[in-house]
Amino acid sequence: MKYIAPSVLAADFANLQRDVEMINNSDADWFHIDIMDGVFVPNISFGMPVLRDIVKHASKTIDVHLMIVDPDRYIKTFADLGSDILTVHYEACTHLHRTLQAIKSEGMKAGVAINPHTNVSLLEDVIHDIDLVCIMSVNPGFGGQSFIENTYKKVKQLKEIINRNNSQTMIEIDGGVTDQNAKQLIEAGADVLVAGSFVFKSKNPVQTIKELKSIIS
Ligand code: DX5
Ligand code: ZN
Repeated sequence: MKYIAPSVLAADFANLQRDVEMINNSDADWFHIDIMDGVFVPNISFGMPVLRDIVKHASKTIDVHLMIVDPDRYIKTFADLGSDILTVHYEACTHLHRTLQAIKSEGMKAGVAINPHTNVSLLEDVIHDIDLVCIMSVNPGFGGQSFIENTYKKVKQLKEIINRNNSQTMIEIDGGVTDQNAKQLIEAGADVLVAGSFVFKSKNPVQTIKELKSIIS
């Protein structure tokens, strides 16, 4: 099964309930929620009160991507808010193994995101502890950036590590996903595609999600 996760970062925040319901009524599988702190990344998105209100209306898996320093401080908070998957950045965790266990002990699936410069081989020793690896295909912080082509190679290398270790880890791709790269990403081994601008800046987001879903199915 392959998944599409629209990124709410690209929604119209003045019409958030409308956009959440649009995702509910589309072929999308997950809600991708980008939390930025202005320190780990040079941008601030939104925080807990907004997520709480999204969760109130959302009827699909809540996939939270934390782009914050010291994410351990907020693991319980995000569990209580209703996150199903909590992804932290490799670059923001000094004790990644401990952080992953803490996420799971709160009943969530544990994800690790890696920046474009971070080699996938660094995850091999914890691959069995990771439910999802989010390969950043742009530098995190902003929607609407262009896809970094080196990502295909990273997906293949990570898939090899997952297979070699008989792990069930899923691969998610985040940044610059469009109908032009979706198929090739899935062929390289990706399981989940995040799409922000491509969905929300299109004329008919429901139709765009449907097209992406049919490309990857
Ligand atoms: C980037 C975020 C992404 C972003 C993707 O820092 O993690 O999830 O919303 O947006 P697009 O699809 O526009 O690149
Ligand atoms: Zn993201």
